Amino acid sequence: MSVPVTGRASAHAGKSIWHAAWLPPAAFRELGSRPVLVHGEGLLVDTVLDEVSRACARYGGRVWHGPPWQVDADLVLALREAGRVPNVAAESARLGATPAVNGAGDGALGDEGYLLARVDGVTVVLADAPAGLLYGMFHVVRLGAAAFDDELPARRHRPALDRRILDHWDNVDIHPVSGQIERGYAGGSLFWRDGAARHDHARLRDYGRLLAACGVNAITVNNVNVHDTEARLLTDRLGDVAETAQVLRPYGVRVHLSVSFAAPVVLGGLPTADPLDDRVRAWWAAATRRVYQRIPDFGGYVVKADSEGRPGPFAYGRDHADGANLLAEALAPHGGVVRWRAFVYDHRQDWRDRSTDRARAAHDHFAPLDGRFDDNVILQVKFGPIDFQPREPVSPVLAAMPATRLAVELQATQEYTGQQRHVCYLGPWWSEVLRFRPRGEAGGTIADVAAGRAGAGGGLVAVANVGDDPFWTAHPLAQANLYAFGRLAWDPLLVPGAILDEWIDLTWLPVATGDPETVRRTMHAIMDDSWRTYERYTAPLGVGFMVRPGHHYGPDVDGYEYTPWGTYHFADRDGVGVDRTRATGTGFTGQYPPPWSEVYESRERCPDELLLFFHHVPYRHVLHSGRTVIQHIYDTHFAGVEEVAAMRERWRLVAGAVDPAVHDRVAERLDEQFRSAVEWRDQINTYFFRKSGVPDAHGRRIH
Ligand code: GCU
Repeated sequence: MSVPVTGRASAHAGKSIWHAAWLPPAAFRELGSRPVLVHGEGLLVDTVLDEVSRACARYGGRVWHGPPWQVDADLVLALREAGRVPNVAAESARLGATPAVNGAGDGALGDEGYLLARVDGVTVVLADAPAGLLYGMFHVVRLGAAAFDDELPARRHRPALDRRILDHWDNVDIHPVSGQIERGYAGGSLFWRDGAARHDHARLRDYGRLLAACGVNAITVNNVNVHDTEARLLTDRLGDVAETAQVLRPYGVRVHLSVSFAAPVVLGGLPTADPLDDRVRAWWAAATRRVYQRIPDFGGYVVKADSEGRPGPFAYGRDHADGANLLAEALAPHGGVVRWRAFVYDHRQDWRDRSTDRARAAHDHFAPLDGRFDDNVILQVKFGPIDFQPREPVSPVLAAMPATRLAVELQATQEYTGQQRHVCYLGPWWSEVLRFRPRGEAGGTIADVAAGRAGAGGGLVAVANVGDDPFWTAHPLAQANLYAFGRLAWDPLLVPGAILDEWIDLTWLPVATGDPETVRRTMHAIMDDSWRTYERYTAPLGVGFMVRPGHHYGPDVDGYEYTPWGTYHFADRDGVGVDRTRATGTGFTGQYPPPWSEVYESRERCPDELLLFFHHVPYRHVLHSGRTVIQHIYDTHFAGVEEVAAMRERWRLVAGAVDPAVHDRVAERLDEQFRSAVEWRDQINTYFFRKSGVPDAHGRRIH
């Protein structure tokens, strides 16, 4: 049994030591200081029992598991199907005979849901499946003392999305360009090190625990770019995957694998990977059967095909539906899914060709295939049409494929949002995406798309931001993004500020901090608006990129302008932005249903923050805000830097109130964020001043 170590991060006797993130032992104080009854059997019930037992051992509580006598408990965690609960209040709740519970318990609880109620002075968690009991227990932990308040309303809790998945872009071998983790900013992988499995079960188990506590129920253990060694995770290195699955299973986390479409050739020695070839189909069926023999609850495959040089069905004259259905057929008998990524575009574009538009690509490729995918295919769509930028419109694919199961893909790893050197709390951005209504006010939200009809949707996926860094995410405040992802996948209507409060309460407990209220206020002041701050000092008005090619950190306005990657801003002496209109541009606006097809088409109606994504406008074009585009660029870049300076100052003031190791790490990162923000400001402002010749209305220094 692993007990997370708190305190200073260090390496000891070659073993990694890590901070506890959001579940330090003290988070269990309320629960652990009471009499608790656990009722039911099963692997995940054992996990609950184990958590409760450790907490009670630490804080003086007491725990019973299925005693034959009646128990006087403050907290009862019970499986309904386990029969009579030896506690009067909980048993009457189980039988639905309690007024407080009536109504709240209506409807099924499902595999992961639970009922939480306060009945006659007892806090009762009822579930129909062990995972529900585990999630219910973590809810009690989140509530702290409030879980034992007689005013606690009875409520049924079920996740809005069944699939809540983190994709790790981890390589087994250290890749010469992308390293151990592609786009990883938190050290090495939790699973792999230098060509082999790490077997660090204690840390993996703790990871599973953190995931369960925020609601994540699946991970993918390897990069979507499947290189040679990683391809073999499907075959002769499957044992390593099985081992990871075994460690995570007690926390309800299922394992998925990224696979290479060329596997029948590179692993199976076949002359082809043609999806319609019977030998290829047989190979996938056999390989998949072997996976399920080793990992009966295996989740499924992730495939990046015909994208950025990865193999795919195009080589055989087949389309993406043919490709995805091939794998779906192999997985179907075992209940698995294939998540087929929609991130397909021409990465060898000619920048001189203004008619090719990378934003169009996913819709052009996939919308015509709606209805052709098997039931266990999930099309995994990046939330925006380009690539995880700090501002993009929502991908039109998400409104175009009603007959396909769609998953929405986010990026917790901060490739384009400061690489975990900058504070950038992404909860507000993700919440905006999930609440967006692609068909206007009368239609559903993006969260509804991810939920699908009758819960059959593809769910929510994020590229993970975790590594073997002692703080898990390198920037301690980036943990909040991981936490927020899980919580939003469970309930997309949660308010980002409230999620942050939960995370603060669980992570920065009063016992660990000298002045909890000041710490809370400081965290909010630094984090609440940090995504918008980041947006202010980087690429303006939705135009995107302007990052240094390759590693994507820091500014380089023209870095991608004359490259094959399809990410251009088209700034000239008169104006800036990409004309994606139907009238005069690439026609991308036509991929949206109304009202957005009209709103985005119109320069007047297009929201300011997306103006340069959709339109090429003169520098003196006046925004809804009343400012010109050029003045907006200057103002936001000066403001963004000032905001970072204020963050840094605020953080200085809580030195002494938080763990010194954490304080040092955040302080060092804020210094770098400030340096980088100044660099962004000066390059962007200077670039546009030189291009436009328009001076700053406030006469500030531009180089
Ligand atoms: C981005 C990222 C790549 C990644 C790709 C993907 O382009 O820079 O590292 O492989 O997205 O999502 O597949």
